[in-house]
Amino acid sequence: MARIMLENVTRRFGLVIAVDNVSLPIIDGEFFALLGPSGCGKTTTLRLIAGLEVPTAGRVHIGDRDVTGLPPRERDVAMVFQDYALYPHMTILDNVGYPLKVRGVGRREIRERVGEVAGFLQIAELLERRPAQLSGGQQQRAAVARAVVHKPQVFLFDEPLSNLDAKLRLEARGFLKHLQHELGITTVYVTHDQAEALALADRIAIMNQGRIIQVGTPLEVYRRPQTTFVAGFIGNPPMNLVPCRLEVGVDTAHLVGTTFRLDLTSLRDRLALTLRDGEEVILGVRPEHLTFCGQGDSFAIPAETYAIQPLGAECVVILLVDSTTLSVRLFTGEPPQQTGRVWVGVNPERILVYRKSGELVLG
Ligand SMILES: Nc1ncnc2c1ncn2[C@@H]1O[C@H](COP(=O)(O)OP(=O)(O)OP(=O)(O)O)[C@@H](O)[C@H]1O
Ligand SMILES: [Mg+2]
Repeated sequence: MARIMLENVTRRFGLVIAVDNVSLPIIDGEFFALLGPSGCGKTTTLRLIAGLEVPTAGRVHIGDRDVTGLPPRERDVAMVFQDYALYPHMTILDNVGYPLKVRGVGRREIRERVGEVAGFLQIAELLERRPAQLSGGQQQRAAVARAVVHKPQVFLFDEPLSNLDAKLRLEARGFLKHLQHELGITTVYVTHDQAEALALADRIAIMNQGRIIQVGTPLEVYRRPQTTFVAGFIGNPPMNLVPCRLEVGVDTAHLVGTTFRLDLTSLRDRLALTLRDGEEVILGVRPEHLTFCGQGDSFAIPAETYAIQPLGAECVVILLVDSTTLSVRLFTGEPPQQTGRVWVGVNPERILVYRKSGELVLG
């Protein structure tokens, strides 16, 4: 086990700044996810921890050691790459058992330990085959098995489940979370799938354009996204973000859109503290915090039904408001009674307000 510390780490490739002055303490034993869109610098950050990239500036620490100049083999990390590099000439048994073999573990124990991990990842039947004789998802699970068969100081995973179908992915997720919890090995897990990050991680860092935008527990980043970028990235459907204007009176406050006027007088003092009367802002509200209601409710927004998506346990309704869409999540699973022209209510306790520039000011 070990903590990992990135200290003002930058990695440039020519003019591209793949990782831009990232400072990140990863706690000993935690499951840490790096989440962000394609090209934001997740893989590069992971490779910097593994020692496969050298920072242009900054330091990398693992445990008590400054490993910035150390090669990968001296860092005691196990990594699963995005493109799961298995040894093509070896059987899956030898591939998965390889980290044990190089550590001098006997043949019988290797078989036993490989068999156990292979069982959890549902590849036990495939151990005699070579990588080319496996599907992409099977190869990927073999690569995960190889990483977790021994107990390094650190696990580094780069989208290790991206090629699995939904059912296998959920099972493999459960296995990884359980295993990490049992072993307590510090784990950094890269994904662009927000649901995967929320499901697996103790803490999540959301990256964009080489920078860390926010770090927090799954609930913290879900409930209080610090920017509209994070708000729009986390949650499925993501948070509704509606541009509007703030009107602050002597003892009143309203959020005004083209077709609605929400009474936020109860939040007047907090709003007036940081925002000006007339300022353009963005209203943020999660789909599960909107409800269908009647006209005339002071927190109601008029809308037009656009699409209804029944999902079994719940139902997502897409509405048109002005020229933007609003998602409403209903936990009953039943489609709404009203369609066409409807009113949706907003609970003022549940809203977030962002500056036009995207930064959270109330929530
Ligand atoms: N060896 C390289 N040479 C030049 N540019 C690179 C190199 N490796 C990465 N980059 C650039 O650095 C940026 C970050 O890449 P990185 O692979 O870290 O992104 P990522 O977040 O892992 O994306 P994805 O989700 O698509 O895997 C990208 O703009 C990429 O084009
Ligand atoms: Mg990547």
